[in-house]
Amino acid sequence: MKKICLPLFLALGFLAAHSQTKPTASVIPVPASLIENSGTFTLHNNSVISIVAGSKELDGMALQLAKVLHTATGYNFKIDNSGASEGIKLELLSTQNSSLGNEGYRLKVTPTGVQISANKAAGIFYGIQTFMQLLPKEIESKTLVSNVAWTVPCVTIDDQPRFGWRGLMLDVSRHFFTKEEVKKFMDDMVKFKFNLLHLHLTDDEGWRIEIKSLPKLTSVGAWRIERNGKWANSPKAADPSEPKTYGGFYTQEDIKELVKYGQDRFLTIMPEIDVPGHSLAALAAYPELSCTGGEHTTYQGIPFMNWFPGGRFEAVIENGLCPANEYVYTFLDKVFTEVAALFPFEYIHMGGDECAKNIWEKSPAIQALMKKEGLKTMPEVESYFVRRVEKIVNSKGKKLMGWDEILEGGISPTANVMSWRGVKGGIEAANSKHNVVMSPTTFAYLDYVQGEPLLEAPVYASLRLNKTYSFEPIPEGVDPKYILGGQGNQWTEQIANYRNLQYMTWPRALAIAEATWSPKERKDWNGFAGRVENQFNRWDVSDDKYSKAVYDAIVAASKDDKGNLYANLSTELNGMTIYYSFDESNPDNYYPKYTAPVLVPKDAATMKIVTYRDGKQIGKQINIPITELAKRATKK
Ligand code: ACM
Repeated sequence: MKKICLPLFLALGFLAAHSQTKPTASVIPVPASLIENSGTFTLHNNSVISIVAGSKELDGMALQLAKVLHTATGYNFKIDNSGASEGIKLELLSTQNSSLGNEGYRLKVTPTGVQISANKAAGIFYGIQTFMQLLPKEIESKTLVSNVAWTVPCVTIDDQPRFGWRGLMLDVSRHFFTKEEVKKFMDDMVKFKFNLLHLHLTDDEGWRIEIKSLPKLTSVGAWRIERNGKWANSPKAADPSEPKTYGGFYTQEDIKELVKYGQDRFLTIMPEIDVPGHSLAALAAYPELSCTGGEHTTYQGIPFMNWFPGGRFEAVIENGLCPANEYVYTFLDKVFTEVAALFPFEYIHMGGDECAKNIWEKSPAIQALMKKEGLKTMPEVESYFVRRVEKIVNSKGKKLMGWDEILEGGISPTANVMSWRGVKGGIEAANSKHNVVMSPTTFAYLDYVQGEPLLEAPVYASLRLNKTYSFEPIPEGVDPKYILGGQGNQWTEQIANYRNLQYMTWPRALAIAEATWSPKERKDWNGFAGRVENQFNRWDVSDDKYSKAVYDAIVAASKDDKGNLYANLSTELNGMTIYYSFDESNPDNYYPKYTAPVLVPKDAATMKIVTYRDGKQIGKQINIPITELAKRATKK
C-alpha cells in the first residue's frame, strides 16, 4: 500500500468509482427497435444542445433538458441552432418520415453525439425521455452528484407508439390531491410516454372542480368530515357538529394551469364528471337533484352501498341523480358548458358506472317517466339518461365517453366506451363499431393489492405486476381500429397521500406503459422485469416511492383428497429461492428450501417464508397463519 503513490491511488479509486463497464440500454416502455452499438457517448460541461428546424416548443424542450441535466451533473449546456453533430442535436425532420408518425422518434447515439429526430415536437419529447433513461441512474438526483461519468451507450433506436391512447386515471375525489401533486403525477407519467391523464373529478366523497354557475358544488360538495382507517368502515356516522373540513377542489384557474402543464408535456387531460351514480357530493350541494329530495351529506366513513354476490348492489344512502327530474339536465348543461370550455380534449367522460337502481325503483317520478317515455326496465331508464347527457355533451362540441355500463339498455351509436368490468364490454362495444378504451379490472386496476395481502393495505382484490404485464388491449377477434388504447385506473378510496399514491401506481403503471406503447412482439416478461429493477434503482436516487412487492413470495395452498394441506409457493421473478419455517422462528437461507408443494405439519400454527437472491434476502418475510393458508386452499 505504502508503495503506491498518491496520484495513482486516487486515479485507481476514480476508475473504481466509475466502474467502467459498458452501460446497457434499459428503456421502459421497450422501444420498437433498439440496436446497441459499440462505444459510449459522454456528456461534458459546456456540451452543446443544438436545435435544427426549431420551433418555440423545441426551444422550450432544449432549455428544459439543459436544466434537468444541470441539476445532477452541475454542467452548463450551450443551446444554439448550429446543427452541430457533436453534443445533443434535436431535429425536426424537414422531410416527414412516415414510419415515425406524430409521436415517433429516432435516437442515434454515437461516441461524438446524440441525435434525436422526429416529424413532430412530441416525438422529440419522447426521444428525450428515452435519452434520459440511458444516462446513469444518478441523473435522477435532485442535487449535484460528483464522480459520475455521464455516459450513455451507443444505440440506434427507432420508436413509435402502438396506441394513441396511453392513459392513467387518477381519482381525485375519494381523496383530494393538490394541483402540485397532480403535476408531479404528470411528470412521473410522461417519463414513460403516457399521453393521457383521466381525472375522475367527482364522486360521493367530493366534487373537485369549480363550476362558477353552481358554487355550492365546491363550497359544500368538496368537503367532508375526516375519516381515516379502512374505507367505509367507520364504526359511527358523523356527529352533525363535526366539521366538514377535509377535501379541496381545483379552481378554474388551477384547471387551466393543469391543462397547460399537460400540453407542455404532450399529455392531454380528460375530465370525468361521474353521473348519474356516484353523485353524493352533488346531492349534498343540491339535494333537488335527487329522487327523494331532503338533506344529503358527503361521505361519512360508513357503508353507503350494499354489495351482493355476483356484483349486484344497492344504495343504502341515495347517491344518484334523478333521471326523471328536468332540473338534472339543466344542472348538467351548466356543468358541461364550463367543463367543455376548460378542457380542450375532444372527449368528456360522464362516468355512468355502478348506479344503484333501488331508489329509482321506488320513485313515483321514475314510474311516471317510464310511462311517458315507454321505458320498460331500469337499464332503459339509465340509457334514457345517458342519451340525454350525450346530447348535452355533444352540444358543447365534445364526444361522450362512459364506463361500460352505458352499453346497458341500449347505447347511442356515437358514444364511446371505457371497458372496466373485464374485456366483455369493450368487445361488445367494438363489435358494434364504438370506439373503446380498455381498462379492465383484471389487468389495469392499480388500486388492487399488488403483493402478499398480509403485507399490504387491505383491498378487496389482487393484481400482481406480472398479471398487469400480460395486459393486451386488443381482445382477440376485435377490429383493432375501434380500440383507441388502454389505461390503468388508480382509485383512491384507500389512498390518502401522495407517497402511497406512488407506491400503488409504480411499478404496475410501467406495465401499462409498455402494453400501450410497445409493439406486442417486443414484450417479454423477463426482459421487462430486469428493466423494472433498473428503474427501482433510479427511483431510489430520485427518492420516489414504489412497491417492491414483486420480490415477495406468492403464497397459495391446496388440499389433497385426504384433506392434507399443502403450501404452494412461487415467485414472480426468476432466480429467486424461497426458504420457510413452521417452528415460529424466522427463516434464512439455511432453512428448508422450497422445491415443491410442502405438506403443512398438523401442529404448525404459522408458516414463515422468505425469498433470497444471490445469497441475500430480497423479499419481505411473510408470516402466514395456517388458518389463513387453509382458507386459501378452499378459495376458488
Ligand atoms: C369503476 O371502477 N367503477 C369504473
